[in-house]
Amino acid sequence: MRLLKKALAVGLASAMVFSMAGCGAGSKGTTAAPEATTAAETKKEETSAETTAEAVKDAVGGDVADKKVGISIYKFDDNFMTLYRTELQRYLTEDLGFKKENVVIQDGKGDQAEQTNQIQNFITQKYDVLILNLVQASSAPEITDMCKAAGIPVVYINREPDTQEEQRWSDDKINATYVGCDARQSGTYQGEEIFETSNKGDINGDGVVSYIMIQGDPENVDAQYRTEFSVKALTDSGMQVKELLKMRGDWDQAKAQQIAQDALTQYGDQIEVIFCNNDAMALGALQAIEAAGRTVNKDIYLVGVDALTEAVQNVIDGKQTGTVFNDHFSQARTAGDMAVKFIKGESVDNVNMVDYIKVTKDNAQEILDKLK
Ligand code: BGC
Repeated sequence: MRLLKKALAVGLASAMVFSMAGCGAGSKGTTAAPEATTAAETKKEETSAETTAEAVKDAVGGDVADKKVGISIYKFDDNFMTLYRTELQRYLTEDLGFKKENVVIQDGKGDQAEQTNQIQNFITQKYDVLILNLVQASSAPEITDMCKAAGIPVVYINREPDTQEEQRWSDDKINATYVGCDARQSGTYQGEEIFETSNKGDINGDGVVSYIMIQGDPENVDAQYRTEFSVKALTDSGMQVKELLKMRGDWDQAKAQQIAQDALTQYGDQIEVIFCNNDAMALGALQAIEAAGRTVNKDIYLVGVDALTEAVQNVIDGKQTGTVFNDHFSQARTAGDMAVKFIKGESVDNVNMVDYIKVTKDNAQEILDKLK
């Protein structure tokens, strides 16, 4: 009987968690990068949060409120990860019932050595589970071994360790998992957005789509795959392409503005498409495009990824051709759910992927409403 009650509670908890993840309702995001977030700053989810927390409490056979979650974000000063961490903190404390003081979020400041120290401190203080957005995904084997030795499960987010490492977790039954999106999908959507324009990206009609590519940090698989698959979607559709320039903008608006400005000076009208690996960089590129007197969707195309509020508004206003929703609500909630599963001692798949959503003028308003 007791077992049945527990099983029902688990079912209820996950059903609620997943239906909430699916509906995309959540806290209001801001694309500014505040110094730190507190749960009090985030918007309260309407009705079912308390019930969900109750169900989770039953399901773990105790109170998650007493469990400690250590989180480290690769750097706070990142537009997308700011939205992500705000939702993660809100979900853990308001919906899953962790005590605010037991959810500690550290800023990795873009420095792997500093972040490794933070993780070491979490381990020394016997945190129950860690949620980590690594500065360098290539540090995953070392960090995983540190956590494993201490018996602490780890949920990696956003920066995907390589497949060999992920395979090791399942082969060696290590309590580690990755929650993210398959970046190949986002790249493909970007290429499709260009192919679906009236001239398939070939504005000057010379039979070739000439583009520049502004990349994120190239160590990150998101940057690698978006770069590769955006172009591949065009060539797979039979288009000829010419890369005029490929440069790293490190996901950063100001760096991308400079790159786009220099490229527009050097290549002028030859540039038909600017691919940006994320929206922060697309916002920078747009500043340069407007300063150069060019007009998006008329004499140049521009695409990004993430669906930052400003970028989605730009899609509606015709100042950005398209973007791709990098669903931080579902990713944050899945990461929280995996942390709870580890605490409950349940088995967890080594990789958990969330879908991207293509954003064009057709659905931009709908996506913007979800973000608000
Ligand atoms: C996002 C970028 C972000 C990066 C951080 C990517 O998935 O698209 O905006 O800067 O993650 O790792």
